[in-house]
Amino acid sequence: MLSEEKLAVSNIERVDRLSKGIDRLSEGNIDAVLLDLGLPDSQGLGTFEKIHAAVKKVPIIILTAYKDDTLALEAVRRGAQDYLIKGKIDGSALVRALTYAIERKKLEETVEKGTLSLKKSEEKYHKLFDSIDEGFCIVEMVFDADSKPLDYYFLEVNAAFERQTGLLDAQGKMMRTLVPNHEELWFEIYGRIALTGQPIRFSSEAKALNRYYDVFAFPVGEEEIKKVGILFNDISERQILEKQLQDQERLAAIGATAGMVGHDIRNPLQSMIGELFLSRKELENLPESDAKKYLKESIQSIEDNAFYINKIVTDLQDFAKPLAASIEETNFKRIVDDVLATLKAPENVKVTYSLEPYFEKIMTDPSAMKRIITNLCSNAIQAMPKGGKLTLNAVLKDEEVFITVQDTGVGIADETKNKLFKPLFTTKSKGQGFGLAVVKKLTEALNGKVLVESEVGKGTRFILEFPILKANAPIHRARLRSQ
Ligand SMILES: Nc1ncnc2c1ncn2[C@@H]1O[C@H](COP(=O)(O)OP(=O)(O)OP(=O)(O)O)[C@@H](O)[C@H]1O
Ligand SMILES: [Mg+2]
Repeated sequence: MLSEEKLAVSNIERVDRLSKGIDRLSEGNIDAVLLDLGLPDSQGLGTFEKIHAAVKKVPIIILTAYKDDTLALEAVRRGAQDYLIKGKIDGSALVRALTYAIERKKLEETVEKGTLSLKKSEEKYHKLFDSIDEGFCIVEMVFDADSKPLDYYFLEVNAAFERQTGLLDAQGKMMRTLVPNHEELWFEIYGRIALTGQPIRFSSEAKALNRYYDVFAFPVGEEEIKKVGILFNDISERQILEKQLQDQERLAAIGATAGMVGHDIRNPLQSMIGELFLSRKELENLPESDAKKYLKESIQSIEDNAFYINKIVTDLQDFAKPLAASIEETNFKRIVDDVLATLKAPENVKVTYSLEPYFEKIMTDPSAMKRIITNLCSNAIQAMPKGGKLTLNAVLKDEEVFITVQDTGVGIADETKNKLFKPLFTTKSKGQGFGLAVVKKLTEALNGKVLVESEVGKGTRFILEFPILKANAPIHRARLRSQ
């Protein structure tokens, strides 16, 4: 049949044994093999397997008798190009099968080469992907019907991703599942990139991850697919250093102005407070009326705010100026009484104190002591917005003095405990963050130290420890108590 199709097939060679066939194939220059599975030196599928193992590149067409149909099919499954049934084909079908087999084989090779180089470039890309220090991920956005971004999930993450985020096995997971309280802002930004196709560079804090990031995010692939590539770097440390530097600059500026402005503010402030005191007295003499009631309330509010300004100015001054303690005989009980009277704890805060009589005559710096107790008590009161107990104790023990100020308030989380005494650290909207910095500075100026014990939700105890504050009076162990 083939010799009749001379135009299509120029050179036909024929061997009668498998071994001879393999030998001939190894010499090369063969375009295709027509293979009978039943040969003198080999039978069945093995015939194909052997020749296929010897030369992968040449297409093989199985010639088979009708009854070997399933066998031939299996050979095709294992890599033969085609099979033809003896006696059921003509010349042109045979030539067509051969031509197709050769073309198909060529195509297969090209695809294989392509896949190989694709695989190589994919490996290269992955190596690069994993070798960078920056975190990198590709996410797919999920929107609601109004194109509002709902969530995103991680298609791919690189090796640095885990180190940069602290998130394990993120691939395939939704962001909101991994970090339920991640800020809205992140979803909005990535959603916008997916919708507009515009890349964005930005820095922002991720509170839930307790980190600060520098981010470059850009659209990936077709716009409709809504994928975003995110390249990011944890810059928390840099951010902390910058903040420290800013704080230092602020502190230096505060130090420079506090002394100067302090006096200018305090003098008029003192006279304001004096005038208020007198106005209140005058008011008492007037007959009861609504106007009197309102005026009294106004005076109270002006007074509260004046005291607040006074506290800020005093804290700033205490913090800024170098301190030389001036030690004198002091009635510590009177200091406590004064402080508590000035602070005016709200009704729902029950105040008690217990001082050993020894504290009626101690050698210390009264104004420093007053500032310390004021700041500790005002913090304690502020920590109990729903009310509670403020307890002050002063005891003499083993040649040392312990003064404790204890509240039953909100308590302090472990991670903030080491920042408490730093100037400018505050968790209050109206706080300056100077109170405890001043307490520490003054306590240390009196050769003492200050410690804190606290449990979130239960309360806080500040403990001041001083070397014995030499008393002239004999020490009585009986206690004085507040009523
Ligand atoms: N008794 C307390 N209970 C709970 N938290 C406290 C207590 N005392 C201090 N803190 C925490 O420590 C922070 C720092 O206190 P600090 O007195 O230095 O500043 P502040 O009270 O915030 O501001 P201010 O300068 O007005 O005193 C507070 O913001 C608060 O978070
Ligand atoms: Mg305070």
